[in-house]
Amino acid sequence: MSTKSHLIAPSVLAADFAHLHDDIMMVNNSKADWFHIDIMDGVFVPNISFGFPVMQAIAKYATKPLDVHLMIVDPDRYLQTCKDAGAEVITVHYEACTHLHRTLAAIKELGCKAGVALNPHTPVSLLKDVLADLDLVCLMSVNPGFGGQKFIPNTYAKVQELRAMAIGVNDNLLIEIDGGVTTANATQLLHAGADVLVAGSFVFNADDPLQTVQSLKDIDINVQTL
Ligand code: DX5
Ligand code: ZN
Repeated sequence: MSTKSHLIAPSVLAADFAHLHDDIMMVNNSKADWFHIDIMDGVFVPNISFGFPVMQAIAKYATKPLDVHLMIVDPDRYLQTCKDAGAEVITVHYEACTHLHRTLAAIKELGCKAGVALNPHTPVSLLKDVLADLDLVCLMSVNPGFGGQKFIPNTYAKVQELRAMAIGVNDNLLIEIDGGVTTANATQLLHAGADVLVAGSFVFNADDPLQTVQSLKDIDINVQTL
């Protein structure tokens, strides 16, 4: 029997921007594995979050990798800037990339891990021909643009389908879930095959954020291996 480990990535979008340093230190001191950084342009999604100068400020104090989720059109224009601002993982949206294979190669060329995010309406089957080139797939479990939305249950089936597709093609693929993640759905997501749980409002709006991160990290699904 082996225990499958999973990663927790608190989304800074839900932090208190007036006390960002405090929230960065909270994540540093928590059981979290990554910082999830949501960059929005007001075009690909109907909201604007923060840009690379803020991300750079976060990187200065963060002691854990920055997992950057680019919700922007034409992400190729910003890959170098994103890397320079401290990204270790760069995730672009399938729906925003005309030449996705080229974009993924450019991310890897920079020395970053390459991820693709899928909106809730985008089938995982569309990733078949780039699956071997990916480090991570981010399945959006809400429509991107805002924190604090309700989890879309169809995500469970998408995780299972993607995990099955990845067997023998990309056994190291990380499947990340982003949007509405709480302890109410985390166990089922991990059972379905998820590896990385992003959580914004569930962590930062909690009375005890450290304990809340720990409660997500401590889920043990005890995968049986023969
Ligand atoms: C949504 C962002 C998410 C968001 C998650 O567009 O990509 O990362 O911060 O926030 P919660 O966990 O509050 O749904
Ligand atoms: Zn995100």
